[in-house]
Amino acid sequence: MLITNIGELITNSPLDAVSVASPGPFAAVENAAIVMDDGLVAWTGLASAAPQADEVVDARGRAVLPGFVDSHAHLVFAGERGAEFAARMAGLPYSAGGIASSVAATRAASDEQLRANLARLAGEMLAQGTTTFECKSGYGLTVADEERSVAIAGEVTPEVTYLGAHVVPPEFAGDTAGYVDLACGDMLGRCAPHARWVDVFCERGAFGADEARAVLAAGEAAGLQPRVHANQLGLGPGVQVAVEAGAASADHCTFLSDADVDALASSGGTVATLLPGVEFSTRSPYPDARRLLAAGVTVAIATDCNPGSCFTSSMPLCVALAVREMRMTTAEAVWAATAGGAHALRRTDVGHLGAGARADLVMLNAPSHAYLAYRPGVPLIAGVWRSGERVA
Ligand code: NIG
Ligand code: FE
Repeated sequence: MLITNIGELITNSPLDAVSVASPGPFAAVENAAIVMDDGLVAWTGLASAAPQADEVVDARGRAVLPGFVDSHAHLVFAGERGAEFAARMAGLPYSAGGIASSVAATRAASDEQLRANLARLAGEMLAQGTTTFECKSGYGLTVADEERSVAIAGEVTPEVTYLGAHVVPPEFAGDTAGYVDLACGDMLGRCAPHARWVDVFCERGAFGADEARAVLAAGEAAGLQPRVHANQLGLGPGVQVAVEAGAASADHCTFLSDADVDALASSGGTVATLLPGVEFSTRSPYPDARRLLAAGVTVAIATDCNPGSCFTSSMPLCVALAVREMRMTTAEAVWAATAGGAHALRRTDVGHLGAGARADLVMLNAPSHAYLAYRPGVPLIAGVWRSGERVA
């Protein structure tokens, strides 16, 4: 299938790639075309040089980009916290404590209720151009509730993260060590077969550096790869713990010391995943994306979609926030929301449209990627293809 007359095709493709390679730097072709075959990108280039195809779609000058890669989301939960949000907007601060109310609702929900909520959110994501997403557990916090959370997540995405170490649940109040033992023991054992990643909320009010290290080490021993919730609410050890562990990503990075920035820059593979929807929804200062980019850190943007700190499933909104509030260029923000997310998930097959990549792409009702920030809040998604199939 050929899509032609593309006003701007964002490829993020290493120039000479002849087969699937890691996403390259931001790259765009004007007056372009793309050929998809068997679920993969077969060819990209100038529309004037496009080969023949069985089926042709005329983009009529619109922009096409890789499907968004949302590398951080918490979608397995029940209940909602609209009143907590309203209270926050009326002046109350955000704290990790609200998580407990989602935990209670999640434990009380049936599998079918959890599945239905997850399907609704996954559908929202797809309609907004997200073709790959990560999904964490972390609102169950018993062995059985964490196990069903990762199992249900695995029904909709291969990027499943075990977040048993989200917070210490109420029945372990005052016994963090006892809960860490469980999260590193039976709970991990039952969850690991369903997950690819292990995550820990390393923050005051959640888990300290040594506890986080223990969780990541146990997860790795069980075959999971580390990623970390780090430096969201204040300065702390999260980023250093993530880099030490060789984590794929340190997420949030809202409060960073110079040593944290240096550690990320010299990590050789730990992405800084920024979640500007959280700062928007908790009315907090945004992370300093320019400082990270200037230091050479690889930056991703994701939604963190969850019932507490940020209940948006919209990557276009996060791109607009990254541009307007974090001073990323439109190209940097779109790269971070596609190729950056792929790096954060250590995926080479998505986040770019080089030959051999998965044919995951989004067509905008707009002539360029800049419109994602230029026209914030406007439904700009004209079409979504996943593995070459039109899905929205
Ligand atoms: O990424 N930081 C920890 N976890 C979520 C928030 C969870 C909640 O408030 O329910 C986050 O922001
Ligand atoms: Fe999160």
